[in-house]
Amino acid sequence: MSRQLSSLLAIAAVCVTLAPAPAIAEATPAPAQGAKSTAAKKTAKAKKPVNCSQVKCLALTFDDGPGKYAGKLLDTLKKYDAKATFFLEGQYVKARPQFVKRMVAEGHELGNHSYSHPDFTKSDGAKIRDEIKKTQDAVKKAAGVEPKLLRPPYGLTDLQVSDIATEFGMPIILWTAGSKDWSSKNVKAIQKQTLAVAEQNGIILMHDWVKQTVDGMPALIKTLKNKGYHLVTVSEVIKDQKLEPGDAFPLPEGWEQ
Ligand code: NI
Repeated sequence: MSRQLSSLLAIAAVCVTLAPAPAIAEATPAPAQGAKSTAAKKTAKAKKPVNCSQVKCLALTFDDGPGKYAGKLLDTLKKYDAKATFFLEGQYVKARPQFVKRMVAEGHELGNHSYSHPDFTKSDGAKIRDEIKKTQDAVKKAAGVEPKLLRPPYGLTDLQVSDIATEFGMPIILWTAGSKDWSSKNVKAIQKQTLAVAEQNGIILMHDWVKQTVDGMPALIKTLKNKGYHLVTVSEVIKDQKLEPGDAFPLPEGWEQ
């Protein structure tokens, strides 16, 4: 549906460029066609189809939560019909299960970010497995689902982490750029940095425990939408990557393709 619509729009755009007059005539529908087109638009809106190989998609990701401002963030995301991905820390899932439940109910994606945030590259296998498993269990208890993505603490990963992610059936999701919210803790700086690094199918690192990130989110979302971005989950932006469990994306520096 969306692909067809996009093709038509693409054709229409070409028509406008090549032959303005007929295109304008075509663009003015007869009443019957107008009704049909409104119905089609309504269907499209209900399904919210987004093809990230054709439109500018961006995945905002929030780590270490659910933080104490998660409720306010969820309200904002709902208001602007934006989806996000939350890389949750098990200990906070246990402390604030109501937010996890809301995240799932409102169409956001969940990822596993360990239970207590140790550096996985300095942990033994048993510790890593325990951290991942305890968080999977906590999320399942809170919201009835299990995360399908892993983001190791600090984004630090190695072959051992990769092997264990494979055991859990999860790809490792890092980020294409950071908002630097945890270091600036300044609304304007967070917005400026995020807008500077936003790109098609980008994955942006943010934190829902940073108050200024949550406070600045309405204005940031409005600006991103004005720039043509569709705010979607990580799974949407990585669709074309065809990642296998244990694969890391984007590849950490120094890793071979
Ligand atoms: Ni973290």
